[in-house]
Amino acid sequence: MLRFDTDSTVKNFIVLEGIDGSGTTTQLRRLSSLLERRGLPVMATAEPTSRPEGALVRRILKGELDADPGTVAYLFAADRNQHLYGAGGILAAAAAGKIVLCDRYSLSSLAYQGMTCGPELPRRLNGEFPAPGLTLFFRLAPEVAMARVAARDQLEIYEKLHIQKLVSAAYDEVVAEAAGRGWNIVTIDAEKPLEEVSARVDAALEEYLQRISMASP
Ligand code: TMP
Repeated sequence: MLRFDTDSTVKNFIVLEGIDGSGTTTQLRRLSSLLERRGLPVMATAEPTSRPEGALVRRILKGELDADPGTVAYLFAADRNQHLYGAGGILAAAAAGKIVLCDRYSLSSLAYQGMTCGPELPRRLNGEFPAPGLTLFFRLAPEVAMARVAARDQLEIYEKLHIQKLVSAAYDEVVAEAAGRGWNIVTIDAEKPLEEVSARVDAALEEYLQRISMASP
């Protein structure tokens, strides 16, 4: 059972979550440069990572390698474990005082792998990972998200409307559950125009940085 462990919350660890096409990557880039311009120490990162474990996952996502859904859940969790605890990873950067911004984290595994291999395995594999201090959840209709993604050259295995509908419903469940267990999650209406989404994201970030006293260097 997932503990949603808030005892080990990493306060300067901020995660962006949402279905494909929800804009997490765009917002991560924007936030990263915003914080850098303010002179704050930042590490911008993403899962799956560009490390060897993540590269293997990327090949599966592109359809170049076939893997059992359970294997995929293990690989995402292995990539996350290394990303957290490995040299130069999330915990090392957070301990060094950086604000770590991460495009996707364990709620992605609960939503996506929960759909492909059932809820138990991803919960077991991700249950002990520490909670981020802030999660920004970008919520929008799967139809709108898939229309945005359709312009891309190469679509990954999950980037299909019927799959995104299931992922979207799974996200709503796991976000509610995590919030109920003490995770600090701010839901952003990602259907709004980009400027409005960005303003909402900035406000949520600012409020959180004030709260953890990291608003200025
Ligand atoms: P992205 O680079 O567009 O965020 O793509 C990563 C894809 O991998 C996206 O479809 C979500 C999926 N994913 C999982 O299925 N499980 C996970 O744990 C993570 C981090 C991503």
